[in-house]
Amino acid sequence: MAGRPQMSLDEIREQVQTCRKCQLCEGRTNVVFGVGNPSARVLIVGEAPGKNEDLQGEPFVGAAGKYLNDLLAIAGLSREDVFIANVLKCRPPSNRDPRPEEIEACADYLREQTRAIDPDFIVTLGNFATKFILKTDVGITRLRGTLQQAGRFKVFPIFHPAAALYDGKKREALENDFATLGELLGNRE
Ligand code: URA
Ligand code: SF4
Repeated sequence: MAGRPQMSLDEIREQVQTCRKCQLCEGRTNVVFGVGNPSARVLIVGEAPGKNEDLQGEPFVGAAGKYLNDLLAIAGLSREDVFIANVLKCRPPSNRDPRPEEIEACADYLREQTRAIDPDFIVTLGNFATKFILKTDVGITRLRGTLQQAGRFKVFPIFHPAAALYDGKKREALENDFATLGELLGNRE
């Protein structure tokens, strides 16, 4: 898609709905395109749909999604303020890790979504989203809570909420990092 004129979110959605560029199309119930404000200041990027997301066609609707809503509130944000998308639009079987060839096949969609939304901040949740956006091998444990830059976008990596659900230390880090995000956005002092 490089070099083509800017696509609208609806045009990108249309392409993704019928995508068969990787094997994950075989097992999906629904494509999970992403949801939210099409001109959001903040784009949240997760990893891939889980079971509930695959069934409902919407990102972060399971337990991690409920927690994400609480975290957004800490930053002074609601779901309507942000756009939420994933690196992969279809669920990997048994929620296994995304494979490099799947990430590669799906990459243009997130790139086009980012261009269409044109956010100020990209919040990357966990290692896969952070590596994808920052093109780095540095792990999330070192990068989380530090402001980075990718092209014209400010990038703020944070732990994945699913990884923190049952880990009090990570939860504390996540909550601190969302408070910092709120400060960066001017929503908190
Ligand atoms: N985890 C993710 O990374 N994305 C979702 O949409 C749900 C859970
Ligand atoms: Fe297409 Fe991405 Fe789904 Fe693979 S994961 S089938 S590339 S939309």
